[in-house]
Parts: sequence; structure tokens; C-alpha cells
Amino acid sequence: MKTLFSGVQPSGIPTIGNYIGAYKQFVEMQDEYDAYFCIVDQHAITVPQDRLKLRENTRKLAAIYLASGLDPEKITLFIQSEVAAHAKAAWMMQCIGYIGELERMTQFKDKARRQNQRDGISVGLLTYPSLMAADILIYGTDVVPVGEDQGQHLELTRNMAERFNSKYNDILTVPEVKHPEVGGRIMSLNDPTKKMSKSDDNQKGFISLLDDPKAAAKKIRSAVTDSSSEVKYDKEEKPGISNLLTIYSALTGKSIADLEKQYEDSNYGVFKSELGEVVESFLIDFQDRVNHYLESGELDDILDQGAEKASTKADKMVEKMERAMGLGRKR
Ligand code: TYM
Repeated sequence: MKTLFSGVQPSGIPTIGNYIGAYKQFVEMQDEYDAYFCIVDQHAITVPQDRLKLRENTRKLAAIYLASGLDPEKITLFIQSEVAAHAKAAWMMQCIGYIGELERMTQFKDKARRQNQRDGISVGLLTYPSLMAADILIYGTDVVPVGEDQGQHLELTRNMAERFNSKYNDILTVPEVKHPEVGGRIMSLNDPTKKMSKSDDNQKGFISLLDDPKAAAKKIRSAVTDSSSEVKYDKEEKPGISNLLTIYSALTGKSIADLEKQYEDSNYGVFKSELGEVVESFLIDFQDRVNHYLESGELDDILDQGAEKASTKADKMVEKMERAMGLGRKR
């Protein structure tokens, strides 16, 4: 069975963009792979976090993974900082990566620009992709399902794996990236030229998976769209309505062509109000499941077992990597 790995940061509550770009495909792929899903709290601290909030979000994120439909009997769910192999391998990958290639990452450039206005830029923000490469490579991962914004990090992971293999020993699997067919890049609701992001300062730009469902429907109804009124997918000319069509299609499974037909004789108002209802009922069901996991005692057991299983697998690869690089004594 091939191996799958993916991660989400507990730096806030995930958005419906994260759901569509990531969780939805995780669920669709869970039967076919030996799948590892990680709550990457060490990535989250590359920018300042409130200690208590981070803990709370980490727990909620675990519940959100499960509420999305992942079956803990089939997959391994764990917290990055609870599996020491990640930090160990990250150091090795930092010694494989070059400063120049890390500085070219667009996510680093964006976050560094924002961070510079508030505080200093941490070293961890720059070496973030080395930790991400470590996350993936220590499981011998074949495929990494992610949204489109992570494409550049994945390309760097592949380059680092190849560099390690040719410099030291050919032991790392070079992973493939997988983006969803629909919804690999959900855009902001108030600026459809910008990615939907949980760290957006404007609350109207994104819908968090734990937003009040009625308030979420309202955000959809007031989403920015262009001045014409035809419900038609056209990413260049009609980015706002195209983004809403993508969300609609991803949440209902209806194709974009079918939705265009369904709303042929309607205007944006009707379309947005019905999408608002779709989002509202999706969130009501979703949040019921999240609350179930948060209230049940099983969450901690799932995470304990996940960390143990992940460690068993990852430690073997870390040992091989250390041997290849000449670390420690010969055993
Ligand atoms: P993060 O936490 O920003 O996002 C988690 C997942 O959601 C996807 N995503 C989106 N998809 C569609 N539209 C959007 N607007 C949108 N915003 C986010 C992301 O592509 C991602 O799949 N660096 C990663 C976390 C990470 C990771 C890893 C991922 C750490 N190690 C190893 C894969 C493998 C991140 O910040 O994702």
C-alpha cells in the first residue's frame, strides 16, 4: 500500500477553503493509502502564537480532521510536536536546503512582509519548508494531497529529497503532489483575486469551519461579485461568481456546468442566497460532529495511538538518514 502524508497548521480555525482544498480530498483518499495526517503545531510557532489559544486550536483541529470524515481505524492522526522524529529530520533537512531557495518561497516572502511590520522575522519562518520536507520524507511518502498554495513547497521537498539521495544515500522517496480537481484555490469572499486565508484581518473574507452557520450564510450573500448578473464560470472576467460556483460544486458534488444550467434564469441574488443555505446546512452538520469529538474522551486516545504509530514508522527513516549523513556512532 502506498503512503500518504498531509498536514494542517493549528494557527487558527481552518476555513471552508482548507476543507475543500485539503480535508475533502483526504477523506476521498483514505481507503487507498496508508495515510498519516498531522497537526503541524511546530509550523504554527514560526509566527507568534498565544500558548493557550494554540493548545485549544490544536485540539479543535483534531476534532475537525475527524468531523471531515476521516476514520481513525484506517488513518493515523497525530500532533507534530509529539513525534520527535520531525524535529530531528528537520535539522538534517536544514543542512540540505540552501538559504537562497528558502528566501524565494512566496509564502515566506508574504509572511515575512506581514511579520516585519509587527515583530521580527523568526529563523523558523525561513526554514519552515525544511521542516515540511522532513514531515513528508520521514514516512517514505508517495503522495501529498494539498491545495495549490503548497505547490512550491512540494517542489522544494522533491528537490531536497533528490539532493539528499545523490549526496548521501538513495533512501528517500521523492513524493508526488496531488491537488483537488475542483477547489485547489478557494478565494477570499471580499477580494476574489486573493486566496481565502484564516489569517485574513478582514473577517468577511473567509468562512471558518466553526463560524456561526447563519453568519456564514450572510457572508456568502454579501460576497463581492462583479456587476453583471449571469451565473457563469469565468475565472478571468468573473472571479467572484466563479469562486462561489467552485464552493457550491465542492460542497454539493454538482458539476459547475450543471450549476450554470440550474441558475440559467436566475440572478446573483438567488444564487448567493441558495449557496448561503448550502453552506449553512453544511456547517450545522459539520459542527455537530466536531462537538461530538470534542466532548468524547476518544480524541486523546486517538492522538496518543497516532503519535505512537507515527513514531514507530518515522524513527526508522530518521535512523537511516542519520546513518547516511554519518551522525552518531556506527551501530
Ligand atoms: P495550511 O495550514 O495553510 O493549509 C492546510 C491545507 O489547506 C490548503 N488550503 C487551501 N486550499 C484551497 N483554497 C484555499 N484558499 C486554501 N488555503 C489553504 C493548503 O494548501 C493545505 O493543503 N505548510 C502547510 C502545512 C504543512 C504540510 C506539511 C502540508 C506542514 N507540513 C506536509 C502537507 C505536507 C500549510 O501551511 O497548510
